[in-house]
Amino acid sequence: MAEFVEIYEVGPRDGLQNEKRLIPTKEKLALIEKLVACGFRRIEATSFVSPRWVPQMADAAEVMAGVPRRAGLSYAALVPNLKGYEAAKAAGAGEVAIFVSASEGFSRANLNASIAESLERLKPVAEAALANGVRLRGYVSVVTDCPFEGKVAPEQVAKVASQLDALGCDEISLGETLGRAGPEAVAAMLDAVLQRLPASKLAGHFHDTGGLALLNIDVALQAGLRVFDASIGGLGGCPYAPGAAGNVATEAVAAHLAGLGFETGLDIDALAAAAQFARTLRSPS
Ligand code: HMG
Ligand code: MG
Repeated sequence: MAEFVEIYEVGPRDGLQNEKRLIPTKEKLALIEKLVACGFRRIEATSFVSPRWVPQMADAAEVMAGVPRRAGLSYAALVPNLKGYEAAKAAGAGEVAIFVSASEGFSRANLNASIAESLERLKPVAEAALANGVRLRGYVSVVTDCPFEGKVAPEQVAKVASQLDALGCDEISLGETLGRAGPEAVAAMLDAVLQRLPASKLAGHFHDTGGLALLNIDVALQAGLRVFDASIGGLGGCPYAPGAAGNVATEAVAAHLAGLGFETGLDIDALAAAAQFARTLRSPS
């Protein structure tokens, strides 16, 4: 039997958070419905962040209230603090994702806090998630390049990833936020992280600005990673990473993995339909 690789769908959150047009909740739910038909185990549906910072995600509770619930499918929500956690839990999130940066400049831009302050702020979130049986995912952003500080040292990424692990994260997603890194930089970063954490705890999160995301996924597969974040139709960007393109497109990752002989459990026709719909949500550039 083919080996399973999970694609963790982030389109409704990472994909849509940066869209200029305020997308009505019902359009977000229509996208999620099409994603459900694809057969994902996990979909990151929204984020419970400050609406002053990310207005597009202000309808997080309405989105979570409207998602179709299915056995074997869990919805995740991104949260920056305890307020976000409480709201995500009340809305029925099965998993919450906390996020820290590997560089101080990006941490300040994304969270208005230093790395140490954001880890401190996330400690009670992690404790609550563990106490409540809510699965906890941790993201490290800017794992190779930072828009404010340039190259990020692999050892710094390893340090932050192990700090998230110490908080009790079940999985740590390594975010190449700018989508500019090539395979060598990704390999060096993974080498450093793997000195401290097993591949089974890690996910790869690649944006595709430079068109190298699939090559980077290959490097991560060779390093033993078996979970990859992707966004349907390649939706996305990051509000605090000017110029960054969307996440690598889910349908491209699924086709790539199938070509390599991996099983993703996803329905190719449903992915194509969801991707086509996702592209209609995009603001004209
Ligand atoms: P702040 O302004 O320093 O904090 O923001 P604050 O505590 O002063 O809060 C400001 C206002 O937001 C207050 O409202 C709070 O109540 C409210 P006011 O009194 O002014 O009316 N507030 C909230 N409202 C709803 N839900 C909440 C919440 N928290 C505070 N959870 C803060 C600090 C962390 C809140 C802010 O910086 C923030 O929300 N940041 C989130 C930014 C974000 O979502 N970035 C994109 C996601 S990360 C990403 O895309 C990278 C990733 O994909 C991986 C990768 O690619 O690298 C994950
Ligand atoms: Mg991202």
